[in-house]
Amino acid sequence: MFKKDFEIFDKKYIYLDSAASTQKPTSVIRGVSDFYMHSYANVHRGSCHLANLATTAYEAARQKVADFIHADSKQIIFTKGATEAINLVANGYRQILKPKDEVLVCIAEHHANFVPWQQACFATGAKFKTFNVKDDGSWDLDDFKKQLSSKTKIVAVAMISNVLGVIYPVLEIIKMAHKIGAKVIVDTAQSIAHLPINVTKMNCDYLVFSGHKIYGPTGIGVLYGKKSALNDLPPYQFGGDMIDVVQIQKTTFAPVPAKFEAGTPPIAEAVGLGLALDYITHVGWDKIMADEQKVFAYLIKKLKAIPDIQFVGNPDLKSGLVAFNIKGIHPDDLNLILAKEHVCVRVGHHCAMPIHTRFGIKQSLRASIGLYNDKKDIDAFIKALNKAIGFFK
Ligand code: ALA
Repeated sequence: MFKKDFEIFDKKYIYLDSAASTQKPTSVIRGVSDFYMHSYANVHRGSCHLANLATTAYEAARQKVADFIHADSKQIIFTKGATEAINLVANGYRQILKPKDEVLVCIAEHHANFVPWQQACFATGAKFKTFNVKDDGSWDLDDFKKQLSSKTKIVAVAMISNVLGVIYPVLEIIKMAHKIGAKVIVDTAQSIAHLPINVTKMNCDYLVFSGHKIYGPTGIGVLYGKKSALNDLPPYQFGGDMIDVVQIQKTTFAPVPAKFEAGTPPIAEAVGLGLALDYITHVGWDKIMADEQKVFAYLIKKLKAIPDIQFVGNPDLKSGLVAFNIKGIHPDDLNLILAKEHVCVRVGHHCAMPIHTRFGIKQSLRASIGLYNDKKDIDAFIKALNKAIGFFK
């Protein structure tokens, strides 16, 4: 029903790879183009009319993000993506962590929320720990409680794993982590386009997402942080716009968020993200969630009917994305045929090797939906998948 808002679907693609990146509504593409044509200059620097227009648009985008996740605009830092946002925090923790400290992450984390923490631990001598998921893909909360200790300084988790698709009970572990004084960073890259987020209710210390996974441009991401949690962190990069006073002897830094936005920021990308959030608000969460649930339930029902399908985790616990294998056929082989049928899915380890290892596999084929998918897309995908399976069986 929303395909008409996305010009790319004038061509007959069966796009089931929104977990990797979403397509962009025409309103975002045109809006970014309009911004460049009529309002572009650098931000926070000049005082000409264009500079004022650009700064106003950039800061309005920050306010839109803040409103979208129920934060204050001073708690919103623009980065180039979720990966950079996590690296910004993990880099700060290289100055905070001590050798006796511990960092706890879920085994299902995307490499972006796994490797920065692992490397921060290697650099500081802190202990890098993981907690497990159950065979159905849900969090093993007993293991979480066992691994959490008074030494844990930070817990890093995704709200939805990009392989398992389970919506995790982040509120529960935030409460447990806070009781022992640990901070929690939540990666919402896979949930931001599917569920409303309220950081105030969630009470997380940090939260990240990428613009390109919520119908916005690439090259823009968001780090939200509680004010004290952001103030605790040293600057990530140094340069223009993030300073207060620079002298030969020393430099003092601007307050947050400028402290973390060195150099010319992704201005048009931020404007585009703001427009993408406008689009979501215009369509409405109730409609998005109701439609996506119907389409996704239909996808799972159709997949379950395929003989020899091996889901990664329990298909009934998933939301928005599903990873699986077909016994005896390499997913790359299946994908060759799917690609010929104009079906876009993702094959591989999805930047999450540890969770594939946990399930005793090296790769999987993943289908994921966005608000533009309908049951016809699912029918076309299942038809192409059955054709591919028939070719190799
Ligand atoms: N993180 C993205 C994915 O899971 C790219 O596909």
